[in-house]
Amino acid sequence: MYFLAIETSCDETAAAVFTEERRILANVIASQTDLHARFRGVVPEVAARAHLQRLLPVIEEALGQAGIKLDQIGCVAVLNTPGLVGALLVGVSAAKALALALEVPLVSANHIEAHIYACLLAAGRDLFPCVGLVISGGHTSLFHCRSALDFELLGATTDDAAGEALDKVANILGLGFPGGPAVEQAAFSGNPEAYRFPRSFLKVERLDFSFSGLKTAVLYAVHGQGATSGGSPTPEKCADLAASFQQAVVDVLVGKAGQALTLTGLKRLAVGGGVAANRHLRLALEKMAADRDVELFIPPLNLCTDNAAMAAIAVEKWRHGHGAPLDLDAIPAYHG
Ligand code: KG4
Ligand code: ZN
Repeated sequence: MYFLAIETSCDETAAAVFTEERRILANVIASQTDLHARFRGVVPEVAARAHLQRLLPVIEEALGQAGIKLDQIGCVAVLNTPGLVGALLVGVSAAKALALALEVPLVSANHIEAHIYACLLAAGRDLFPCVGLVISGGHTSLFHCRSALDFELLGATTDDAAGEALDKVANILGLGFPGGPAVEQAAFSGNPEAYRFPRSFLKVERLDFSFSGLKTAVLYAVHGQGATSGGSPTPEKCADLAASFQQAVVDVLVGKAGQALTLTGLKRLAVGGGVAANRHLRLALEKMAADRDVELFIPPLNLCTDNAAMAAIAVEKWRHGHGAPLDLDAIPAYHG
């Protein structure tokens, strides 16, 4: 049986086709980076309109790549939460219309949980139970994942998400959008010990995060204490700031993931979300996992950032009879 999956929670219009056995036949992603770059951030209204224009061609391309026709689809899956409500609505409406027209079941899944599930798809073997770390533009959260249907939130950011902090610091440093890859690029030639930035909550037992103080510390290092604007740093200073900031983010993420492993006693760590594409972070996580004798799951880059293949978590829901009604809504906030 073929599943058609749709993802439109933020600024990627994505559709995927996979089988009941979770074999990915197509994973098409139309990025909107070009549309949002001049605003140096995602503009919700622009994102929603672009989804509207791009979703049907993206679905057609996915079907073409999979080599199947629309009437061969046996189930429609959609990631309906969390995300930008206008953006989500485009995907949810399309999924409902397709399920109704094709007279096939509709299944919904959670975008954050799907990011973790991408680890299982990439590894092709069982993942659960594990600690899940989702690091994206909107979320930084730790979970005790008992199964594909049972995620317990252990902690989350109390202010900015890690990706959000990367995007904002890239702005402060005058780097491009999206900020994560730009900071990573700038950091290559910098000294990660040039600046000692704060590592919030690192020594605290609770599994929450805070990145807003770190972001402000970078701002003051660029413009001076208390100042919020001024000239751009020299390329050398920019590289050192990027490397020191990136190091602080990595230390916190790796440290907190380690604390979650200790607390739960679990021996598997699954990491997902756009920030997991960062090479420096991947190396640091690999080292931590090897030191602790923990099995680390991180998907390849195209399954870290937003995509619809990760909606294959919906197959598990479908197997357990958890279908979605045709009055399914887009839910912007995360509810575990
Ligand atoms: O998961 P994702 O694609 O979208 C959301 O669900 O938010 O994550 C996007 C975030 C952005 O903040 C982006 O700057 C960050 O992932 N990102 C990276 C890298 N590539 C994307 N952060 C650090 N290093 C990267 N290479
Ligand atoms: Zn995401």
